Amino acid sequence: MSRFSAIINKIRSLYGEGETFIPLHAPVFIGNEKKYLNNCIDSTFVSSVGEYVDEFENKMCEITGAKHAIATMNGTAALHLSLVVCGVQKDDLIVTQALSFVATANAILYTGATPYFIDVDRTNLGMSADSLEEFLKDVSIDNGQPVHQPTGKRVGAIVPMHTFGLVGEIEKIIELANTYNIPVVEDAAESLGSTYREKHSGTFGKVGAFSFNGNKIVTSGGGGILVTDDPEIAKLAKHLSTQAKISHPWEYRHDHMGYNYRCPNINAALACAQLENLSSFVENKRQTAKMYEDFFRTTDVQFISESKECRSNYWLNAVLLPTPADRDLFLEETNGKGVMTRPVWTLLNKLEHLQSAPQGNLENSIFIEQHLVNIPSSVRL
Ligand SMILES: Cc1ncc(COP(=O)(O)O)c(C=O)c1O
Repeated sequence: MSRFSAIINKIRSLYGEGETFIPLHAPVFIGNEKKYLNNCIDSTFVSSVGEYVDEFENKMCEITGAKHAIATMNGTAALHLSLVVCGVQKDDLIVTQALSFVATANAILYTGATPYFIDVDRTNLGMSADSLEEFLKDVSIDNGQPVHQPTGKRVGAIVPMHTFGLVGEIEKIIELANTYNIPVVEDAAESLGSTYREKHSGTFGKVGAFSFNGNKIVTSGGGGILVTDDPEIAKLAKHLSTQAKISHPWEYRHDHMGYNYRCPNINAALACAQLENLSSFVENKRQTAKMYEDFFRTTDVQFISESKECRSNYWLNAVLLPTPADRDLFLEETNGKGVMTRPVWTLLNKLEHLQSAPQGNLENSIFIEQHLVNIPSSVRL
């Protein structure tokens, strides 16, 4: 008996005793995926124009309740474009959390702005409203602009991320941001299907960005989407995502530096088929999370649960090990036994290309980095 054999047995009982390898998160194709992909090929519309791109956007408006959705080729592009359309400029300071996937910070860097890393909340792993409040104490309005006094930089946006599908203190964050008139761009890459007080994640800020990467709750192969209620922002996002081309029957005219960020029709087709199963996938994953939650209560490993305001998609289930040494042993034993588990990301402020970025107190992020492990979370068939 190894230290974690009861946990390994539990995971195996959920995902198949006989399976030699249990992945962290595998995509599931049980709907109209092949049919819609065939339709694309039969129609020859496989690239950035086609009926599935429109359908993908309409479906996402329906699911999230947002008024507009602009499909992109991946979530990182959606996030970058979100920052651009919110008016982020070179040399701005963008507040985000140190505990996130690198794409959050990279999208900020693409704009020429600098990330400022603040802490996360220990229970919901999202941006800490207290840390944001602490940061904002150093911000004052100069010539109508929010300026961070210690760096002299304009604060261009705040980017909270909904870690593993959990939605944290988003309402408080929006309230704080509004006091200074700073736009909030939600990195909702991981939280499709998650709500906070019954409002969909990604719809609290000025813009929200989702990912449809292969490891997400539903996938388009590669794909992303940004959602907003602002018609001007939506129009600009669509324009910039299509090389800023002015519509004309034959002329090539571009009125701005644009991007080739539009989502291809074949990826949108896959997204449309997958979205038809989103609510059943969320239900399925919530049942798995409940089984994990009940089981881990009997162990010294702590399962990370949603708050009472949040209805999580439980994209990736996460646990906290009692000590960093336990975490290392857990990773070794589970992976050694064919049960895929992963530590959380290295904190962004520690990555070589981000080390010079300014940061606040990161006590909770450091704790999470040392103790957290993601465990298998695929939809169970
Ligand atoms: C938090 C976060 N932000 C952004 C992204 C970027 O999405 P994509 O891989 O679709 O570019 C991802 C996922 O990969 C993510 O997990």
